[in-house]
Amino acid sequence: MPKFVLALDTSQEVISLGLARYTGQAFEDAAFFDERAPLEMCIEVVVPAFREANTQLLTQIDQLLTMQGVSASDIAAVVVGRGPGSFTGVRIALATAKGLAFAWRVPLYGVSTSVACGYSLQIKGERGWTLLISDALRKEIYPSLMFFGDSKSNPAVTRLDDDFVCKPLDYLTKLEAQIRENEVTRISVVGSGLAKYGAPILTKLEELGVEIHLRDKADSYAGGAGLIAAYAHGESAAYASGDVGALVPIYTRMSDAEEAERIKAAAKAELDGVSAQAENSEQAVLEADLKVALRPTRFMRLLNPSDLQAMAGLALACESIWEHKHFIGEFDTSGRRWFGIFEDSTLIAQLGSAVLGDELHILDIMVAPEYRRQGLAQMLMARAEHEALESRCRLMLLEVRSSNAQATELYLKSGFEFIAERPNYYPDGEDAQVMMRELLSEEEASLLWAHEARAARAVDGPRILALESSCDETAMAIIEAGEIRANIVASQIEFHARFGGVVPEIASRKHTEALVSVSETALAEAKLPLSAIDALAVTDSPGLIGALVVGLAYAKGLSYASGIKLFGINHLEAHLYANILSNPGIEHPFVALVISGGHTSLIASREKNRYTTLGATLDDAAGEAFDKVAKALGLPYPGGPHISRLAREGNPAAIDFPRAMLHSKDYSFSFSGLKTAVLMHIQKEERAGRELNLPDIAASFQQAVIDVQVAKALSAMEEVGAKWFLLAGGVAANEELRSALESALTAKGYGFSVPAFSYCTDNAAMVAATASDRIALDRPLGLDAEAKASAPLDTL
Ligand code: KG4
Ligand code: ZN
Repeated sequence: MPKFVLALDTSQEVISLGLARYTGQAFEDAAFFDERAPLEMCIEVVVPAFREANTQLLTQIDQLLTMQGVSASDIAAVVVGRGPGSFTGVRIALATAKGLAFAWRVPLYGVSTSVACGYSLQIKGERGWTLLISDALRKEIYPSLMFFGDSKSNPAVTRLDDDFVCKPLDYLTKLEAQIRENEVTRISVVGSGLAKYGAPILTKLEELGVEIHLRDKADSYAGGAGLIAAYAHGESAAYASGDVGALVPIYTRMSDAEEAERIKAAAKAELDGVSAQAENSEQAVLEADLKVALRPTRFMRLLNPSDLQAMAGLALACESIWEHKHFIGEFDTSGRRWFGIFEDSTLIAQLGSAVLGDELHILDIMVAPEYRRQGLAQMLMARAEHEALESRCRLMLLEVRSSNAQATELYLKSGFEFIAERPNYYPDGEDAQVMMRELLSEEEASLLWAHEARAARAVDGPRILALESSCDETAMAIIEAGEIRANIVASQIEFHARFGGVVPEIASRKHTEALVSVSETALAEAKLPLSAIDALAVTDSPGLIGALVVGLAYAKGLSYASGIKLFGINHLEAHLYANILSNPGIEHPFVALVISGGHTSLIASREKNRYTTLGATLDDAAGEAFDKVAKALGLPYPGGPHISRLAREGNPAAIDFPRAMLHSKDYSFSFSGLKTAVLMHIQKEERAGRELNLPDIAASFQQAVIDVQVAKALSAMEEVGAKWFLLAGGVAANEELRSALESALTAKGYGFSVPAFSYCTDNAAMVAATASDRIALDRPLGLDAEAKASAPLDTL
């Protein structure tokens, strides 16, 4: 029976880790645990890791578990600090924890890092009032006023507000009111924001005649014990979690881009004379949005020993034969797993499952009477199916009372069939019908799941699961021997569109939110359990650093928890492999053009996995130029596809835009001059009072880009003595560019390759394809691997 809870937090300048053990009974002597928390603290670790969270976190976890002799199967739940704190720091622990919990198949609980800090201080003996002031950067603070009671008579930690952010001076009024209202006479003050922003706050407290005790900065760390205590006291229940996918950081403010937009809207509203009201309503909308985003009211998770009371209560409400004592046994029997659906923090439905060989038996399904006919049973059944695949079961079985027509109908609808009858099965003498559903045939299952014996799969390549998160797509793919079994792309474009480009902070947030659902979808599409994967791959460079970090942290968590090796993939090489994926006949030496929103590089490859960058853009990437010109023409983001559509009706020779570096004799590119020329042309036309000929501008701009690309491609081919030319990256989706390059190159007898449209833009199939060659080099990533914003292919 899994017994341990692992807690982690990297929102502060340290890594806080904790390990606790379920005792199965009320834990008595520690002052900070009450009877709802049958948990016993094993060990806590706090290590300094300023800007090193991603490289240090898993190494520290590994040391801790090894030292304690705890193995993966002993872990029953993971607890993670959700901040507030450094945005990237918060996401590192969160993404890592998601990877761990997803692969271990245990629930993930989130707690506020500030509250955890409160518990940590309370455990260390602090009593009465404490003010925590954390540095929120941008000249702001996260304040938290807390009261620590004696566990016997008072709640251990009471906090006056949820986490919020503000300027130190703006906090004074609120602080004064709270100090007066609660008649505070003595206070401890602590936190990372104290040194920089504490002065006005301390002055205010002195004015109010409060006795101040300054505590060491190190006392403000959440610590493993603080995190575990916060969880044990139901801090996570308030945030209805446990669901690995639903968990997100505590966001107290928007990304800078959204914030700027909000300020602009407020300023405009002020001009319009509706200032305060508009700003308030904006604020209200934001708060409502955050609430919706952060507090899923209904969620599903794996149940654990701390749910025993609730499980027995639900069974009673359902007049089930299951009782408290039976449920205790469930947690002691291997292969047994119960899933629960919660509304806020109340258990409203549960399903028990037992794995027996390749069969998953549904032990029971209970839905609270007032929540029936809402599809909860179907939700649980779908989860059970995922569970069956994860446990390598190809059959699902259950028993149903002969008289229960409603349930029978549900099972028939979900693909179950009658296979037998058990007379007098129930205690009251009623018969049971045994029903079965085949998820996969025996042959399909042995083909799909054969893991150790690859030969049994009759394929010669490994099965690879790859993750891509370098820019604004969260993508996951599974390939096997070059065949794509799953290819999921969750695009964030709609969230970035109104800013006219990718906003890095939004990208990182969206990746954090999408990781788990993308994983579940990819595995379900391939009908595979994670354990049947041979290797994991993740884009670890180049790209938006915050976005890469999230993907890498998650992938490392998956890899550590599943024991499957993880390989780091260069995004540019992956774009090249999009070609090899659809065109296995490509031969070396080849020249490749990677042309996207982030890159414009000409690359030579004389042998497998070896590259020389011949030249790259000196300023903007080509895709960026398409996007900026499109923006100037009033077209939506991303602009590339709109420009190419308009260009079809325009005259490419209408306007003579500059062809920068056309005769430069090297392979460098420059697009900022071209972009400026287009902007100047637009201004000139507008000043002259002429209407803009959008199709002509689009076609002429596009032609200027194409001419330079064709000329450089041809001379590179000659210089390298290459046989093939590979076009890759998002701009490779441009039809004019494709056909211009193709006809110029094939006319000279060269091979020309470009991926199918859907593999030009970012996807994970190309990452998996790259990995299939990288695996042979056997250089998996270590637990301390870090993402890189830039990484030339030459040094791979
Ligand atoms: O490869 P990608 O998805 O992301 C990066 O790694 O940058 O490329 C996206 C870029 C965007 O700038 C988009 O405008 C451009 O590819 N793009 C196009 C076309 N379709 C996408 N540019 C020109 N013509 C197109 N048809
Ligand atoms: Zn890309």
